[in-house]
Amino acid sequence: MFTSVILVVLCSLVNGHDSNNLITYKLMFSDFYPTQKLSGNVINVDNNNISAVSVLENLPELRKGMLNITYLHFLCISNVNLQYMEEGVFDNQNITVISLVGNKLAEIQPRIFDNLPIICLDLSGNVINFIEKGAFRNMLRLRQLILSRNKLTQISSSYFDNTPHIQYFDVSSNGITKIEEGSFSFLSDEDLLIIIDDNAVEEIHPRGFENLNILQLSLRKNSIRDVPVELFTNNKIGILELDSNQVEEFPNIFCEEINSTVKTVRMYDNPLKCETMEKLIDSAGKSGAFCFLEEDKVAKCRQN
Ligand SMILES: *[C@@H]1O[C@H](CO)[C@@H](O)[C@H](O)[C@H]1NC(C)=O
Ligand SMILES: *[C@@H]1O[C@H](CO)[C@@H](O)[C@H](O)[C@H]1NC(C)=O
Ligand SMILES: *[C@@H]1O[C@H](CO)[C@@H](O)[C@H](O)[C@H]1NC(C)=O
Ligand SMILES: *[C@@H]1O[C@H](CO)[C@@H](O)[C@H](O)[C@H]1NC(C)=O
Repeated sequence: MFTSVILVVLCSLVNGHDSNNLITYKLMFSDFYPTQKLSGNVINVDNNNISAVSVLENLPELRKGMLNITYLHFLCISNVNLQYMEEGVFDNQNITVISLVGNKLAEIQPRIFDNLPIICLDLSGNVINFIEKGAFRNMLRLRQLILSRNKLTQISSSYFDNTPHIQYFDVSSNGITKIEEGSFSFLSDEDLLIIIDDNAVEEIHPRGFENLNILQLSLRKNSIRDVPVELFTNNKIGILELDSNQVEEFPNIFCEEINSTVKTVRMYDNPLKCETMEKLIDSAGKSGAFCFLEEDKVAKCRQN
């Protein structure tokens, strides 16, 4: 008894914030009627007519025991200066969507999200620069993972272990420089949406994407020069977005030797060679695909 009292006092000294550890939050009922501000040491939700909980004020640390949720659609802990989540804080919490947007999380330790039956996890707008091996483990229902606007410099399939239904994966606006071999082998579902816009990707390994069934792959605003032909021969891709890169030459993906599944490719704002543009437009036309290039550039090529 005495020990725990002393520990609590020590913790509050170390943390440098109110010793009462109050969480200030708001509930939203299923009919969208919100409550006024509430506060307490624990967010208790044991009532089916509550659909969302938003934390309203500064919450630097999310500790085990602060959540006691039987069922909740949406838990929003956004823009509250969150820096640390204790292992186990989400254990046995039955939540569908978790938003941790706009905080100061810098790394994702393992066992934070283990076995969590959520469908969507939004971690955008933090300062995440490190994700531990197996950080996303046994998340069998996870469909959307959003990691945009962080400080990641690579993507590795080792972050994932048994997340078979991720369909929407967004790492736009990070500092990723290279798509390495097997980076996306954690994705196995169909109709994938992969968004890697606004990074610093210079290189795509020929086996960076492999055996994937991609509805849309978006790589706008990077520094890509070469697009390996294996991207098309080893995957099914519907829409490919490559606007604002450094592509000069591009495989003639619509010809019979490649037979890519691409139906739309966008390549505005690239220093494409005339020869490449003409071949693409010609073969796209024949195969019924769409290829978006600047018309004035194409016209100029045809004049010369
Ligand atoms: C958690 O919620 C249950 C009811 O759903 C309640 O009986 C229990 O006291 C709560 N625990 C805490 C620590 O508030
Ligand atoms: C929510 O449900 C409880 C009973 O489960 C009921 O007492 C309460 O009035 C309901 N609140 C709203 C806002 O519907
Ligand atoms: C979570 O809550 C939903 C809705 O009440 C329920 O159908 C489901 O069985 C619960 N899941 C767990 C793991 O408790
Ligand atoms: C591409 O498709 C054409 C027409 O369907 C077919 O004749 C050709 O063999 C295919 N090429 C490859 C490499 O599969």
